[in-house]
Amino acid sequence: MTTTDGRISLPLLPPNHPLGRSSITCEYRCGNACSHEAPNTTDNAYFGDVVRSIVSRRGMLKAGAVLAVAGAGVAGMAGTAAAHPDHGGHGGRPPRGPKGLDFTAVAPNREDRITTPEGYHNSVVIRWGDPVLPGAPAFDFDKQTAAAQAKQFGFNNDFCGLVPFGHDRWLMVSNHEYTTESAMFKGFSQANPTEEQVKIGWAAHGLSVVVVERDRRSGKLLPKLDRRYNRRITVTSEFQVDGPAAGSQYLRTTADPSGRKVFGTLNNCAGGVTPWGTILSGEENFNQYFANAGSVTEPVAKARLSRYGLAGAASTRKWENFDPRFDVAKEPNEVNRFGWIVEVDPLEPGSKPVKHTALGRFKHEGATIQIARNGKVVAYLGDDERFDYIYKFVSKERYRPGDRAHNKKLLAEGTLYVAQFTGDSPATEFDGTGKLPTDGEFDGSGKWIPLASGDKSFVDGFTAEEVYVFTRLAADKVGATKMDRPEDIQPNPVNGRIYAALTNNTDRGKPGKEGPTEINPRNGNKHGHILEWAESKGDHTALTFSWKLLLVCGDPTTTDTYFGGYDKTQVSPISCPDNVAFDRHGNLWISTDGNALGSNDGLFVVPVEGRYRGYLKQFLTVPLGAETCGPVIEDDFILVSVQHPGELDGASADNPLTHWPDGGTAQPRPAVAVIWKSGCRIGE
Ligand code: FEO
Ligand code: CA
Ligand code: CA
Ligand code: CA
Repeated sequence: MTTTDGRISLPLLPPNHPLGRSSITCEYRCGNACSHEAPNTTDNAYFGDVVRSIVSRRGMLKAGAVLAVAGAGVAGMAGTAAAHPDHGGHGGRPPRGPKGLDFTAVAPNREDRITTPEGYHNSVVIRWGDPVLPGAPAFDFDKQTAAAQAKQFGFNNDFCGLVPFGHDRWLMVSNHEYTTESAMFKGFSQANPTEEQVKIGWAAHGLSVVVVERDRRSGKLLPKLDRRYNRRITVTSEFQVDGPAAGSQYLRTTADPSGRKVFGTLNNCAGGVTPWGTILSGEENFNQYFANAGSVTEPVAKARLSRYGLAGAASTRKWENFDPRFDVAKEPNEVNRFGWIVEVDPLEPGSKPVKHTALGRFKHEGATIQIARNGKVVAYLGDDERFDYIYKFVSKERYRPGDRAHNKKLLAEGTLYVAQFTGDSPATEFDGTGKLPTDGEFDGSGKWIPLASGDKSFVDGFTAEEVYVFTRLAADKVGATKMDRPEDIQPNPVNGRIYAALTNNTDRGKPGKEGPTEINPRNGNKHGHILEWAESKGDHTALTFSWKLLLVCGDPTTTDTYFGGYDKTQVSPISCPDNVAFDRHGNLWISTDGNALGSNDGLFVVPVEGRYRGYLKQFLTVPLGAETCGPVIEDDFILVSVQHPGELDGASADNPLTHWPDGGTAQPRPAVAVIWKSGCRIGE
């Protein structure tokens, strides 16, 4: 059924996989993380439940009174708005709609192209194999070489960031999260990849830095073959390790007895642009690249590997066949050199990228920076795994405007915290169905629990070095809150609150797993939710905060969804939020990964203030099998990463199921796309 503004009922088609992702994506992107036991097997309880059981045992206090302690920011958070959007018809002047949302929502669909609202255009900026460095050969799918790939745009671009670089000119930095060899090589044998195929895979990972220019006449964003600034970073590029765990015994290897020099970065997912013009990038599912963790029997080492999802024999890509550092049995510490936030300075092309140990080691989704009122720098960090945690880092030193050399050291020293969330409604009101509690909000308070600061550990039984290198195990000890896969986290530059995408967790409520809580209220959470919090007194270095769920995603016609209190008949369906960004009005933009409602993935926008809070509209969809990520929201154009187009069950280089972006019989190619409207700002 199609509604008047083009939205249609869901589901459209049965998804390919329980979460709308193809089995190929699961295998190559995260090493089938979802089909394995979630690595967090600790029994640290949800703090709301802990407090409530103490309260009921003592019979002294009402839970609400206890739980409101940290709630100073709640009153400052936007109220819900049940007001209906007025689409005219009152006979007079049409009332003003929400700023930046003046477009007709795109309908969910399964089209093999980018679909946008009427009046918008899109084009490819750069795609896998396009030249980045001078001398790069033209892409030839059937004659790929590692040497060529090292000069070309890598595979499966995820995060995309723009660093201003002159008028209508930017340094565009893209993460190349992972490779899908079966889509890259015809006749590919996963059991026996060739050495050249493996080396192409190494060169197709990492990051690309590309100068891009806006052509005002056409609206397109065009890549430039800039000799000085264009750059490729791959699995063999040298990184420097900084922070309190640099040189740690756990980071030393045969090739690097110093523990300070790492080759390469892996599975770079989301990221952020810092106020000093560098790029932060999260090393996420790094575990899948390492073989033979299952051969480790020493209990402490085994537990440390297992908590990071390392347990098996051969790896998916068999890199261990060509470089022993990817074999845990041969080089046990190499794996500890991944799982960090890395910082790349695109403005200094010769600079060595850095791995920041002060920000902890886990499956980092990304990192985004907020400068606190006192000048300290705060990084918000998510660990993307079922039942894993949200972290923040507060720098020791203060930001100095214009002093890049100083600012680039800010992430080397500070305090690392993990979040503990408490609900304010009785636990009995959460039965896993997603039903709203009687106070009408999924909300509560929370605190930041310190893990380590410089050389000082706050976790019993852990040295500071162990907190940084085995952060997940340290956080387990202090009662961190188990979340439904924390993805991108971003502070809103307009209202100062922080927004996190919790993409899904189909294990919630399963036997032996944590059940529903106010902050993760649905069992078998297929569609995910969006969390919003306000640091106490608006101080980003605060140790307490208040929180609300802004969205509980899914089909708005079902009772288990929530759209900020907004009229659900007016909103677009959304599933599996992943990346978040903001426009100049402070509207939240959300891209999705793995739509479990059957539509292609897309990009959405939702106001977070006033009467339109929760009025979610879909802005675009990406082609079949692709995920939308890396959104960059500029005033007059948007960039999206179209990651893994055509990655559908049964697809391969021998049987491509889509041909985006080149059409005809071409192989699909991951790409960055630009969307714009001639003569208009986005959403106006
Ligand atoms: Fe690579 Fe958490 O998404
Ligand atoms: Ca509540
Ligand atoms: Ca992501
Ligand atoms: Ca993703």
